[in-house]
Amino acid sequence: MLSESTRQRIDLEVAKYPPEQKQSAVIAALSIVQQEQGWVSPEAEKAVADYLGMPPIAVHEVTTFYNMFNTRPVARFKLSVCTNLPCALSGGTAALKHLCDRLGVAPGETTADGLFTVQESECLGACGDAPAMLVNDRRLCSFMQPERLDALIDELRAAASKEESK
Ligand code: FES
Repeated sequence: MLSESTRQRIDLEVAKYPPEQKQSAVIAALSIVQQEQGWVSPEAEKAVADYLGMPPIAVHEVTTFYNMFNTRPVARFKLSVCTNLPCALSGGTAALKHLCDRLGVAPGETTADGLFTVQESECLGACGDAPAMLVNDRRLCSFMQPERLDALIDELRAAASKEESK
């Protein structure tokens, strides 16, 4: 379940903590698994638990607490729209609705072409940039009014078809 390269990367994280506190690397380990597998499956949770000497339920509590962890497969582009209060008061809820309407999905769903998963997000620490969102957990997008959301969708679709045509 955990590849050799995954184990090596997890080992680097484990080495940052005292030997008896390997479990302190659990978030880093799950993040590595998600980068390499796209999501954290129940089997991967169990493998991380075994590797770090933790009860599987303790790992499951981490993956289900932090909504950046994917507990099911997601599309090529995961769009996480912040709907916490500061964003919600400044267009975050409307941004989520706009994206869902444009892509024909409900929050948490994936488009039929497998290109986009839309989901709500907790605060991204960019409240002054509301409405804020993340693409694939890494790219922060600010001030996502409808026209900027439309431009983002167009950009991502273009990037996907460019790669497909290679
Ligand atoms: Fe949206 Fe903080 S509330 S980034």
